[in-house]
Amino acid sequence: MSNLYIKKAIVIGATSGIGNALSRILVAHDYVVGVTGRRKLELYALKNINPERFAVSAFDCTTENNSEKLTDLVNDLGGLDLLILSSGTGDLNDQLDFDIEHKTNLLNVNAFTEIVDWAFNYFEKQGKGHLVAISSIAGIRGSRMAPAYNASKAYQINYLEGLRQKATKSKKPIYVTDIRPGFVDTAMAKGDGQFWVASKEKAAKQIFGIIKRKKGIGYVTKRWWLIGKLLRTLPNSFYKRM
Ligand SMILES: NC(=O)c1ccc[n+]([C@@H]2O[C@H](COP(=O)([O-])OP(=O)(O)OC[C@H]3O[C@@H](n4cnc5c(N)ncnc54)[C@H](OP(=O)(O)O)[C@@H]3O)[C@@H](O)[C@H]2O)c1
Repeated sequence: MSNLYIKKAIVIGATSGIGNALSRILVAHDYVVGVTGRRKLELYALKNINPERFAVSAFDCTTENNSEKLTDLVNDLGGLDLLILSSGTGDLNDQLDFDIEHKTNLLNVNAFTEIVDWAFNYFEKQGKGHLVAISSIAGIRGSRMAPAYNASKAYQINYLEGLRQKATKSKKPIYVTDIRPGFVDTAMAKGDGQFWVASKEKAAKQIFGIIKRKKGIGYVTKRWWLIGKLLRTLPNSFYKRM
């Protein structure tokens, strides 16, 4: 599948939701895309759309050696320009069930770290590249309803900021983008009181625009920037009663 003139991307978490919609957009814009996730059927459904443009690698990021899997996929693609990490998990956990928190941390913290570090080191060695991860507006403040989810997203936001600093210091054209969605209509959108819910197609279209502009941080949809600002300015004395 090697072709020097075609951009190569990997989307981790391409079986559904935002990652699935983004994979389709990338192929529509002439990328060759390596798609991953645990559900093989969903990955092959993508490949069936355009067998020449999709490469499939089905694996669980919390149990497999992510670095090995990604290296194999890059060899299959013949290079890598863009890696998008869209895998994520989390659940409402009013009872503070540790199994839920642990599962969330395994993917959103441990696997996340292994994957973004692998990608950064790959791009550093190559001298260029673009790393994109989907964090969340949820990472801005804590949550009594889903403590590990919000905390893991705060970790991602902070970690990506560190990598952005590292990329700037390297003086190489390496870009690190943190996408912070509000509500998007996927299996991940849980809980009552949802508003400004975007379709996954609309979210993916806006994310692709942010990627093209190589922005450091992008809110999706755009107006969630306002909520981000509001969340940051709410005083602790008020927030703790919410
Ligand atoms: N939807 C929202 O409202 C919203 C808001 C803010 C942020 N986000 C973030 O956006 C990202 C994408 O979520 P989504 O909304 O598109 O939900 P989604 O449709 O549930 O997608 C989650 C993706 O993660 C993959 N995944 C889950 N566990 C995995 C594992 N152990 N190993 C490998 N892949 C795994 C899933 O694939 P398999 O199940 O096939 O493995 C799936 O492709 C997540 O990081 C989420 O936190 C979503």
